[in-house]
Amino acid sequence: MFKDVRGLEFTASSQEAVDAFDATIDEFLASGRDAAALLKHVNEADPEMVMGQCVRGYFMRLPQQAHLIQGSNEAFATAKALSAKANPREKLHVAALESWVAGDLRKTAAIWEQILVDYPHDILALRIAHTIHFYMGDIDHMRDSMARVMPRWDEEVPGYGYVLGCRAFSLEENHQFSAAEPMGRRAVEINEDDVWAGHCVAHVLEGRGRRQDGIKWIDEHEEAWKQRGIFARHMWWHRALHYLELERFDDVLAAFDREYWPEPTEDNIDLTNASSMLMRLDMLGVDVDDRWESVGAICASRTKDRLRPFNDLHFVMALTHSGRMEAAREILASMRDFVGANDDKGQTVVEVYKRAGIPIAEAIIDHAEGNFARAVEIMSSARYRMVPLGGSWAQRDVWVRILIDAAIKDGQHAYARTLLAERTADCPSSGPSWNMYADALAACGEDEEAEAARARGSELLAA
Ligand SMILES: [Fe+2]
Repeated sequence: MFKDVRGLEFTASSQEAVDAFDATIDEFLASGRDAAALLKHVNEADPEMVMGQCVRGYFMRLPQQAHLIQGSNEAFATAKALSAKANPREKLHVAALESWVAGDLRKTAAIWEQILVDYPHDILALRIAHTIHFYMGDIDHMRDSMARVMPRWDEEVPGYGYVLGCRAFSLEENHQFSAAEPMGRRAVEINEDDVWAGHCVAHVLEGRGRRQDGIKWIDEHEEAWKQRGIFARHMWWHRALHYLELERFDDVLAAFDREYWPEPTEDNIDLTNASSMLMRLDMLGVDVDDRWESVGAICASRTKDRLRPFNDLHFVMALTHSGRMEAAREILASMRDFVGANDDKGQTVVEVYKRAGIPIAEAIIDHAEGNFARAVEIMSSARYRMVPLGGSWAQRDVWVRILIDAAIKDGQHAYARTLLAERTADCPSSGPSWNMYADALAACGEDEEAEAARARGSELLAA
């Protein structure tokens, strides 16, 4: 029996294979570019290593790309065939992959959590459970999952910084900003490559509206994070969100061209970054020139893949705004077909399509077509069902912005005023929100209040 760097036992033909496995997981934890290449070394060193096959299956499902799913299914079949000789922990990983293949994400996450009860140092189970809770919007589960293992971790255990970064992010998404920030900063001190921990701090600074601190945080670590994989581009997107709130629109657009959409890519994180930012710019009346085109062109090839509603909604935004209304409608029809064909089959994502994916897609299309009243009606209730779409509060905010924009454009001034009262209460440091609030107050004839809101907006933007 061979052991990994944290002392967990592995069924493998050699220590070399387990060491290669450790290197793969390290790269995965650091959001590195080379995790797939390193995994090849594991599979070459020991093609019959159950955990090597499980990780192959996991890695090919995480990017939510249709062309990788078959490879993941094959890895599961191999892992299952090898599982008779696996130890109990490894058998649970095979069971988790089996549930994932069947589309039951809740059961999958529950199996990883079961592993963590007895093996809290199984950093793969820990990190991948964290990721899947995030994908499902299970933010309380994400928080509790990390809290349960933390007493078993300290700085002496290899990988502690990554675990601290996950704990920090789980607190941030539950709006426990004060607790999250120092943990995220400490994790980056331990290991600057930990872009996920860095991302936690970026979210705290976004949530708190600390614009200059947010830009500085990313500037300071840019050189290290440039070396990371595609997730680094999401950090440049975060920096551009700060520019947006400071109304530095030229910087948002320059960063689009150079940093977070430097070239057309198929990666969902890039597509969501690009689509989400262009949508925000559009609604603020900023001319984005022909930037929608390259994003929409990629999304046009995704009309049939129903893997994650969160991504699909970003595709719908890109399609509606790049003149591909028909393709946007195809996605909506495909969502309905998917639900019809898979209802009651235990696929977690089906419920999410029903409750949030389909209505929000309808609202995006209505908004794009100028059916603002209908967009308002749908989004007003769907906004409270969008957390299970997954992603972060900052990412899902684009759909709340659509609701506000639709209310304004439909002339529902009183409703827009209340939505903006809510927004300025939630993030009092947002200059553009105060200015929009001022406009809505003025439209309601509340001139004195409008003037005060405008003064607040100007003060924040000048700071
Ligand atoms: Fe983020």
